Amino acid sequence: MTITLAIETSCDETSCAILRDGREILSNIISSQIEIHREFGGVVPEVASRKHIENINIIIQQALDEANINFHDIDLVGVTQGPGLVGALLVGISTAKAIAYAIDKPIVGVNHIEGHICANYIDHKDLEPPFTCLVVSGGHTYLVQAKSYTEYELVGRTRDDAAGEAFDKVARALGLSYPGGPLIDELSKKGDKYAIDFPRVYLEQDSYDFSFSGLKTAVLNYLNQKRQKNEDIIIEDVAASFQQSVIEVLVEKTIKLAKERKSDKIVMAGGVAANEGLRSLMNYRGKEEGIKILYPSRILCTDNAAMIGSAAYFHYMEGDISNLYLNVEPNLEL
Ligand code: KG4
Ligand code: ZN
Repeated sequence: MTITLAIETSCDETSCAILRDGREILSNIISSQIEIHREFGGVVPEVASRKHIENINIIIQQALDEANINFHDIDLVGVTQGPGLVGALLVGISTAKAIAYAIDKPIVGVNHIEGHICANYIDHKDLEPPFTCLVVSGGHTYLVQAKSYTEYELVGRTRDDAAGEAFDKVARALGLSYPGGPLIDELSKKGDKYAIDFPRVYLEQDSYDFSFSGLKTAVLNYLNQKRQKNEDIIIEDVAASFQQSVIEVLVEKTIKLAKERKSDKIVMAGGVAANEGLRSLMNYRGKEEGIKILYPSRILCTDNAAMIGSAAYFHYMEGDISNLYLNVEPNLEL
């Protein structure tokens, strides 16, 4: 049995989790700074770092208390190495190194995007690679083929905005607060998803890449024209039609890759995997194609340390551990 203490501070959540092996959560404390950043309409990096510093020790103690263990019960320390905000990442990594040094236990630096994927191992105890995976978060949109617990083939990615970023930017144009993804998700339920014919951007025929900036511009143009003509804007319809354009492309490309690779399961990960429209369309298409669809519970879709602990554990099991020279990599790729 391996007890992992994991830390995540890549953006605006300060989180610490304790895991038993790679799949069982003993505690997962998440302190969100969203309320603080909301008044600025997005995450302010310097503010995020300061808040992480204020919170981190308290969050770690809470995680230990809730798991009913102390530092000497820990076998492994996992921490997000990147990608993310440099100052925010530094708080987590310095803290994790200090703990690993003090208790003389190994440390593993984790790729945040891989962490999102590993959240699925916690919620789906029987899930094993290989599988096709769609990672959709605020900063990243990747289509990957997971070959093992630690190896991924990157097949497609966004060429401009990430899916979550598109949700957030369109939400802002609609006058909604940050982060806009969940609000668009809610509004969409009351709107007509075919009311406005926004573009579906598939790029070249054989491409698994994504592009969302053209769609975002189309929504902005639509809103500007309506405002210039003093016409009513039904924001539920705009939200639903925009969301439908995003999710159709995400779903069809993912299904196409799964079929090409003969995958019998599709796994979704990242904040946008919490989107109910995306979940239901993917489930519907998966059923049609005979492909099993999996995604984490909502709390494990968005940023949290438990997913980092899971990824750290699988690397540790393969002997892939870091050392105390571990440094942040703000632009780390999958
Ligand atoms: O994975 P995450 O917590 O952070 C990153 O690593 O980026 O993802 C945050 C993103 C935000 O853009 C947020 O608007 C989006 O995920 N998001 C959603 C939903 N919940 C969160 N987007 C659409 N529908 C949702 N229900
Ligand atoms: Zn994330």
